[in-house]
Amino acid sequence: MASSPELSRGSGLPLHLHTTLCVRDLDRARDFYSGLLGLAEIADRPLSFPGLWYDLGANAQLHLILDPAFKGAIANSDKWGRAPHLALHVPELDSIRQRLDERDIAYQSSASGRPAVFLRDPDGNTIELCAVRPPAPQPTPQRTDGLFVVFEGVEGSGKTTQIDRLEVWLRENQAAPVVRTREPGGTELGTQIRALLLDAKTREPIADRAELLLFAADRAQHVESFIRPQLEAGAIVLCDRFTASTIAYQGYARGLDLATISQLNAIATAGLAPDLTVWLDLDPAVGLERARDRGEVNRLDRESLAFHQRVYQGYSAVAAGIERDGRLCRIDASADVETVAATVRSAIGAAIEARSARSEIGVS
Ligand code: TYD
Repeated sequence: MASSPELSRGSGLPLHLHTTLCVRDLDRARDFYSGLLGLAEIADRPLSFPGLWYDLGANAQLHLILDPAFKGAIANSDKWGRAPHLALHVPELDSIRQRLDERDIAYQSSASGRPAVFLRDPDGNTIELCAVRPPAPQPTPQRTDGLFVVFEGVEGSGKTTQIDRLEVWLRENQAAPVVRTREPGGTELGTQIRALLLDAKTREPIADRAELLLFAADRAQHVESFIRPQLEAGAIVLCDRFTASTIAYQGYARGLDLATISQLNAIATAGLAPDLTVWLDLDPAVGLERARDRGEVNRLDRESLAFHQRVYQGYSAVAAGIERDGRLCRIDASADVETVAATVRSAIGAAIEARSARSEIGVS
């Protein structure tokens, strides 16, 4: 299926018909749209934020975006971009905005920072005019060596303990070099960014968007100067936190726009995705207590339990999005340390086998 269906019109501008709806529960939505209505999910587009894309045929798509906070019927939504709408791609928006201003026609710019405006046509239909986007940064081809394993979870979920154990086991049982790293703080620049982000004594409150950009800057440097070169050299890279943390903490817990976060993650990673994400699944109330008992309290740990519950909700949503393709392993982190460690080892063992099978048949 073509990823960007287009209709050629007299004007030569490509016309996209798509409808975007918010849903509160992706499993329920999939059950309805795929199971009951039999619609075909678009499988060739990895989504880095929680949602479902459907091919409606005849150049139309249905986009479902997970928004657990969404209330009320879509028709009553005053967020124009979220109502069913017709999207037109146009070469540039400045002159159109100028003409709309001259004629005093109301419009709304995209809240996510995309180059787009929403307005109503004379019949009250919502139209999205979207400036043709500059080509996305070309993802550097995935390397064929190395294995990229990420650990995620709420505070106190035991990531450090499990990475310690796995590292020892891998060194004893694998020929490949093993390196461990973390976010934020996996590089020299990252260490400085980490101090800015996590110092619990910071007097000046850090704006949510500044926080997001600092995590993204840390990641861009980390991928470029450490993770990718290590993978190219054939290492098994164990990383404490990655893109899912940003979705969970800045997206779900802080409430920043998920589509913007997805774009920033794409820029920061330049297309690099983990081969496996291990989610140590633990009730945030239990995790916070564990972390506080150990006296490990950073700026984010000081947030309320409600904040950490939203983080947890974010992880659940990410898991629902990527569990299907086998790149996420959810492990009950309330079990004892050795049980969790054994489950982690078997997940990593399977990922190593899958990786070598793929290299043998020349798939990266
Ligand atoms: P850290 O001390 O490494 O905590 P933990 O041991 O729980 O991993 O601190 C990392 C903190 O940064 C943690 O509270 C999660 C937060 N964080 C984000 O908010 N966004 C991100 O993108 C990343 C990578 C981390």
